[in-house]
Amino acid sequence: MDSLLFSPYMLKEVVLKNRIVMSPMCMYSADSQGMANTFHQVHYASRAAGQVGLVMLEATAVTPEGRISSKDLGIWDDAHIEGLQTLTRLIREYGAKSAIQLAHAGRKATVDTPAVAPSAIPYDGMKTPLALATHEIKDIVAAFQAAAVRARKAAFDVIEIHGAHGYLINEFLSPLSNQRTDEYGGSAENRYRFLREIITAVQEVWTGPIMVRISATDYYPGGLTPDDYVEFAKWMKEQGVDVIDCSSGALVPASIDVYPGYQVPFSNQIKHEAQIATGAVGLITSGLQAEEILRNEQADLIFIGRELLRNPYFPRTAANELGFELSEPKQYERAPGTIKHK
Ligand code: FNR
Repeated sequence: MDSLLFSPYMLKEVVLKNRIVMSPMCMYSADSQGMANTFHQVHYASRAAGQVGLVMLEATAVTPEGRISSKDLGIWDDAHIEGLQTLTRLIREYGAKSAIQLAHAGRKATVDTPAVAPSAIPYDGMKTPLALATHEIKDIVAAFQAAAVRARKAAFDVIEIHGAHGYLINEFLSPLSNQRTDEYGGSAENRYRFLREIITAVQEVWTGPIMVRISATDYYPGGLTPDDYVEFAKWMKEQGVDVIDCSSGALVPASIDVYPGYQVPFSNQIKHEAQIATGAVGLITSGLQAEEILRNEQADLIFIGRELLRNPYFPRTAANELGFELSEPKQYERAPGTIKHK
């Protein structure tokens, strides 16, 4: 059968050879300066060789204080460019496009510096963050912009802004974590202002595709819902964001009913109600499941996380399931049938 999963997808000038995106996943393997090393080279190049269309790097910190852990990758200094450039070169060499997820952990940062957030409200049991002053907010917006310049120099094809999982941008968006009374808090427009400024700042220095990962619901009374995100997604569309990557949760502890494709309904709603391209993620583990989501127009791209940790060749497995022929890497051509087992 024809496969939508294995059909190309255009993101501005960037052509993805298929709809499979490696979901960003922290590997906690950088050194204390945020430098990439041979682990990252092998890890990301393997998924490119495995025929993922877009290999997205893990959450990469735009400031040292904004790291989730002291082993996060960093992009806060020009010294990071060379190591990241090696990663984009390897990913390209093995046939994929590359993306980087730009992140600031906000109140969920666990490095030794004080954590910062829109308001001095801690995440469950963690240290109380300092509420950011206006000039500090501007500094972080500038850090996202400087990171985008470095991402360009390191030759990434796509930037994803991490607006999900209870990290800094998500903390600004949700009234549960943002109780500011200035222009960055209160109304939805004001809570969106930080993300709006980051998108604009990135666009000043980056003409390539931009994705934003969101947590489409806080799963919590008084928190944000998918309807709120339809509104935010419309604003992102107006700003020229290319894809909304629809994850959920992790702003506050909450019980989540997890099942195969559990976040697909968020992608479906945002895609149709905000009329913007979306990515679906979360317990998508087979080619048939991915194909079904695309055929039912519930998403434009399929993000695969843990299944790609278990199986770097997931796209080959999915292609076999769908009866779609992927070309062999030339190194394997003398052993026909090794990869395709039809
Ligand atoms: C993640 N996830 C994640 N998400 C994100 O936006 N940035 C990140 O750096 C990470 N880090 C991370 C590390 C590890 C080890 C896991 C397992 C997950 C979430 C991930 O991208 C994905 O959304 C979820 O894992 C759900 O998709 P799967 O794994 O069910 O396909």
